[in-house]
Amino acid sequence: MKKKLVVFSGAGMSAESGIGTFRDAGGLWEQYNIEDVATPEAWKKNPDLVTDFYNQRRKQVIEAVPNSAHLLIASLEKYFVVHVVTQNIDDLHERAGSSSVLHLHGNIRLAKSSGPNQEDRYYPIEGWELTANDKCPDGFPLRPHVVWFGEQVPALNDAAKIIQEADILVVVGTSLQVYPAAGLVHLAPGNCKCYVIDPNSDEFEVPSNFIKIKANASEGMRELIQRITD
Ligand SMILES: NC(=O)c1ccc[n+]([C@@H]2O[C@H](COP(=O)([O-])OP(=O)(O)OC[C@H]3O[C@@H](n4cnc5c(N)ncnc54)[C@H](O)[C@@H]3O)[C@@H](O)[C@H]2O)c1
Repeated sequence: MKKKLVVFSGAGMSAESGIGTFRDAGGLWEQYNIEDVATPEAWKKNPDLVTDFYNQRRKQVIEAVPNSAHLLIASLEKYFVVHVVTQNIDDLHERAGSSSVLHLHGNIRLAKSSGPNQEDRYYPIEGWELTANDKCPDGFPLRPHVVWFGEQVPALNDAAKIIQEADILVVVGTSLQVYPAAGLVHLAPGNCKCYVIDPNSDEFEVPSNFIKIKANASEGMRELIQRITD
């Protein structure tokens, strides 16, 4: 029987595809205030600004292509049952061919209704642009399908179940600062082999049972594959 391998990815996973991380030098939060663009209050106050911020992110995602780390993760399905749990809102894991991808913080290619009780209805966005005039079939304005700061993370329980059943857990490109998502890495079972791939993993707290591979995502994935397939 194939072992279960879970990849838990963050912004660093897509850095080699040209999509900026949030916290690195030159990252997005140096250019924007979280409160202005990534909270429900911001969207209520200035929907045009927030919609445009995510339009720019979506444009960048559409123009980007999966990097070799995304492709290597998809290729592991030959040897393992692979589940990807990602904090990323881009769709590069899917476009690389991964068949099981759970987005904790949403998917920028989708919109959702801002109306009441419509949380789980998603609408694909044609192209890169959503406008403040776009409405759901019930007439409520559409907003990007992104979990903003201060909002619930609806996929958290599903992600916890996936990680609790992992034989191998590979954490890639996340500074483990955004909770509750970051807490998931503590749920791996005792016999699970845990790895973290991140060039800066000495700069944040990683559980002591994790093996550190201090490298970029693609180089780190190559090293990991050598270790787990030997
Ligand atoms: N691509 C995206 O969808 C995207 C981009 C930026 C931010 N975000 C969101 O921002 C939040 C920020 O948390 P986070 O922990 O994911 O990001 P983060 O910016 O806090 O941390 C990024 C981590 O990636 C590492 N890193 C940088 N370049 C790397 C590379 N080439 N290979 C491997 N690792 C690399 C950094 O050392 C850092 O630890 C997440 O919730 C995510 O939803 C998403």
